[in-house]
Amino acid sequence: MTGLPALVSLRSVSRTYRTDSAAVIAVHDVSFDIKRGERVAIMGPSGSGKSTLMNMVGLLDRPSAGAVLLEGEDVDDLPDDRRSELRSQSIGFVFQSYNLLARHNALQNVELPLVYCGVHRKERKLRAQECLKAVGMLHRAQHFPKQLSGGEQQRVAIARALVASPAIILADEPTGALDSRTGADILALFDTLHDGGQTIVMITHDASVAARCERTIVLRDGQIVADEMNAHTANGIATQ
Ligand SMILES: Nc1ncnc2c1ncn2[C@@H]1O[C@H](COP(=O)(O)OP(=O)(O)O)[C@@H](O)[C@H]1O
Ligand SMILES: [Mg+2]
Repeated sequence: MTGLPALVSLRSVSRTYRTDSAAVIAVHDVSFDIKRGERVAIMGPSGSGKSTLMNMVGLLDRPSAGAVLLEGEDVDDLPDDRRSELRSQSIGFVFQSYNLLARHNALQNVELPLVYCGVHRKERKLRAQECLKAVGMLHRAQHFPKQLSGGEQQRVAIARALVASPAIILADEPTGALDSRTGADILALFDTLHDGGQTIVMITHDASVAARCERTIVLRDGQIVADEMNAHTANGIATQ
């Protein structure tokens, strides 16, 4: 093999949740690579293991078996503090429910990942302002989450995900709580990020959202049932 290792590599990854009464196999023997600059949709019905998979790629959880590699490095056995550090430097999260801190204004929310990275206050503010500008929210920097619409909150959440220049953005149903028009605006923002070379993994159960991505991985009962390039993007013809 030549060249750089894949950005993310899952090798025969399984994750079992053990409760008092039973063991649930949420992800079973899943393998795939994600290259730099790829935009991948993860689809599958509710309960098929999408979030469990994302939590492992995002270093929030460890596999029960198999290995997760980030830039060729096996990250499963790293100590928790090193994993947290790596997570804040390398992964940007976007959730369906935005997950902004209610007591912080937009600017402070976006600055937060840089606090964890130990970036100095002045620099933090500048970089957070840049990211708010990039998502069209600089004019709302002093607003608190409850003073913002859902679409605006998601823009701020995307700015927060971007602020530490992560290697990969993981988005779990990023348009799931938005009306279709606002959702389309958010997807257009992801288009811009993708065009700029950002690696993106987006969980969705909406086929029209997945169609914006160049590749779709479909899960069922914790296993991959399809992993395909999307025809309309594979031949270089842009979607509408
Ligand atoms: N913390 C947990 N404890 C026990 N079972 C869980 C836990 N989290 C998820 N599961 C189970 O694992 C399976 C996959 O869940 P999840 O990854 O959330 O699926 P999806 O995101 O595709 O809806 C489901 O059967 C779910 O009930
Ligand atoms: Mg889920």
